[in-house]
Amino acid sequence: MADGTDMEEWMVSSNEALSISLVAPTKSGLQNITTFSPRFTYSIFGEDEQIFGYKGLKISLRYRANDMRPHLKISSAKKIKPYGDSEADDVLAILTEGNYLPKIAYSRESDFEESSKQVVDDFTPPGELHDTFDGPDGHYEVWKGSLADPAVKQLNTRVQMLVPLFIEGGTYIGQNDEPESTVDETSDADRWTLFSLYRKDESGYVFVGYSTVYRFYWFQNPTPPASPRDGWELPEGSLDLAELPCRKRLSQFIILPPFQGKGHGAQLYKTIFAHYHKQPQTQEFTVEDPNEAFDDLRDICDLEFLNSMPEFRALKLDTSVELPEEGPLPDLIVGQKNLENIRQKAKIAPRQFYRAVEMYLMSQLP
Ligand code: ACO
Repeated sequence: MADGTDMEEWMVSSNEALSISLVAPTKSGLQNITTFSPRFTYSIFGEDEQIFGYKGLKISLRYRANDMRPHLKISSAKKIKPYGDSEADDVLAILTEGNYLPKIAYSRESDFEESSKQVVDDFTPPGELHDTFDGPDGHYEVWKGSLADPAVKQLNTRVQMLVPLFIEGGTYIGQNDEPESTVDETSDADRWTLFSLYRKDESGYVFVGYSTVYRFYWFQNPTPPASPRDGWELPEGSLDLAELPCRKRLSQFIILPPFQGKGHGAQLYKTIFAHYHKQPQTQEFTVEDPNEAFDDLRDICDLEFLNSMPEFRALKLDTSVELPEEGPLPDLIVGQKNLENIRQKAKIAPRQFYRAVEMYLMSQLP
């Protein structure tokens, strides 16, 4: 710059400036449980994940650990004076214009702290208790609810900022280009189910992670559209739409960093899968754009489930079959003709099922 100011000096890493904390409401005020950094901030602050114009910038996003009411505080040691066309990035404007957090996140700090004293004893998560398990570090509860329930929707609005912060390429419900995923339309909200995971101890509930699942209709037709959501009209009449045959798609899945690597992701996935596997109207369970880490978790859990099916365990490679020099390959898997029946019984989507079969057979090789 003309006055000799080094622009680089005023660049701050947005991944380092932003911190996320869970704070526990106690009678004497808020107590910090854990603080961690985001993995990605590019979708909020730009590809380079840099914020211009500050020294010692701190963007502190605190969540009340039970109901996940957020509070945002921005502070810095120094802010650059506007110079020509250059001025400090307006962090607050970036966050508010992007609708990353609900309005309540920008309330006064004293309001956040005062309100926290009132919710110590009587909090229960929104929705209904779905499952419980004991982890290596405490007792856990999974709660389940429809986004048509205002309390569940409120939780989703509070935590949705975690999606761009922890899932590369992750989008909010209603943010991608699928018309049916606009959560604000009541008719669509009831197609979304949110599963939230909490650690529960004497001091109360601590939010650990969550997952959302979307319900697609499942139409059997000799000439189906390319995708189950293209071009179908809903049947008319007074049908209970939730009871129609459907395909479930897990959309978002997050375990907060301090709780990762302890088996909680696997527990949450298994309880969600088991729920839909048991549900008569669910014909198939699939996952939207899984990343590598999620693929690993899903493979382990799906293989464990498939191994519980005797007909799956009976599959093996027929090593006695000689391969012809030309012409079609013979069936190499004992029980090959039965595979599609096993898949339909398992309700696992084709690509994932056949991957699991391959992994299983490979693991049987001497
Ligand atoms: N103690 C210690 N480690 C354990 C235990 C246990 N009791 N049980 C399992 N583990 C191991 C597993 O073997 C696994 O090890 P590996 O990865 O080295 O093979 C590892 O812990 C992870 O398994 P979990 O602990 O069950 O998984 P976690 O709770 O960490 O959740 C997840 C995984 C969901 C990917 C999490 O890291 C996360 O939320 N990441 C950020 C967001 C993300 O990427 N989400 C998925 C996006 S894709 C989508 O949303 C569809």
